[in-house]
Amino acid sequence: MQRADATQPESRNPQELPDELVRRIGKEALGLRLEKQALQESKQVFQSKNPLNPDRIPYFFETVRFVCQALGIYQRGYREFMDVQLVTNEIFFSSLPPEMDGLRILQISDLHLDLDPALTSVIVSIIEDLDYDLALITGDYRDDTKGCISDCLEYMHRVCGALREPVYGILGNHDPIELVPPLESMGLPILLNETVTYEKNGKQIYISGIDDPHFYEGDDFDKLRGTVPEDAFSILLSHAPETHQEALQMGYDLVLAGHTHGGQICLPGGIVVIHNGDCPSYMLAGNWKYGDLKGYTSRGTGGCRLPLRFFCPPEITVHVLKHRESDNP
Ligand SMILES: [Fe+2]
Repeated sequence: MQRADATQPESRNPQELPDELVRRIGKEALGLRLEKQALQESKQVFQSKNPLNPDRIPYFFETVRFVCQALGIYQRGYREFMDVQLVTNEIFFSSLPPEMDGLRILQISDLHLDLDPALTSVIVSIIEDLDYDLALITGDYRDDTKGCISDCLEYMHRVCGALREPVYGILGNHDPIELVPPLESMGLPILLNETVTYEKNGKQIYISGIDDPHFYEGDDFDKLRGTVPEDAFSILLSHAPETHQEALQMGYDLVLAGHTHGGQICLPGGIVVIHNGDCPSYMLAGNWKYGDLKGYTSRGTGGCRLPLRFFCPPEITVHVLKHRESDNP
């Protein structure tokens, strides 16, 4: 593993990043992202317009921690945080080539690995012997939205060591651009408004990944335009599901997202109390449909800020894509 030298990413000039990375993102777009990163590092902005976003509520996390400890339910919440569920999710498509029927896609999302070092071993133990064709990680490697990146990279090295190629990732709203070179050196290519192909049984599907649309506003659909043939089956990796309108308009068949953590701390029955999603509530967790577009929002494999979950277990998901004459099974 190549350890990152940086303990804290700083707002840097595009010239200070590898030339190849600058070329891939574009100098102007990279400059805008670095400006946003600088704002985030200095905490001069909130990440969301959503008034129910925990970041907008003063002392939210401190209050939740105190209340859970006072009520004696902190350990119960921690046990659920560590109890990562392996979820198998079948999705049916008439547009999926029959040659791809049964394609198994592993999705990991919102790891926030430096929140609790013990979580990495749990994740590795689940994925190391898992049966899948393709692995996709939908962002948020770091816990906080600012500060040190070297700890999460150390844990990501273990996760990457347990994954089998092909594997692709995207960045989330907790992820500075400085994570890209070390993650890619670990064998995790990050899709920055880029498209790759996956081939099986002589057929290809297309996988596009966009940069974080939630805070860094790095999602550049114009860059993706023309990278997917019109009649091809295509998947969009989007950290947050708030890109559903663009994804539908661009003709993607499936969106894989995360970001919401499913609410992370919910009422019995998984009822969401407070969330960070700038999207319709039915997109906060699990399968959803928007016009002809199908989507899945992971509840997240980790959690952020507090190692607690209530009525919203973390997940590692294996999507099994099925070809059907009709989209409805
Ligand atoms: Fe997250």
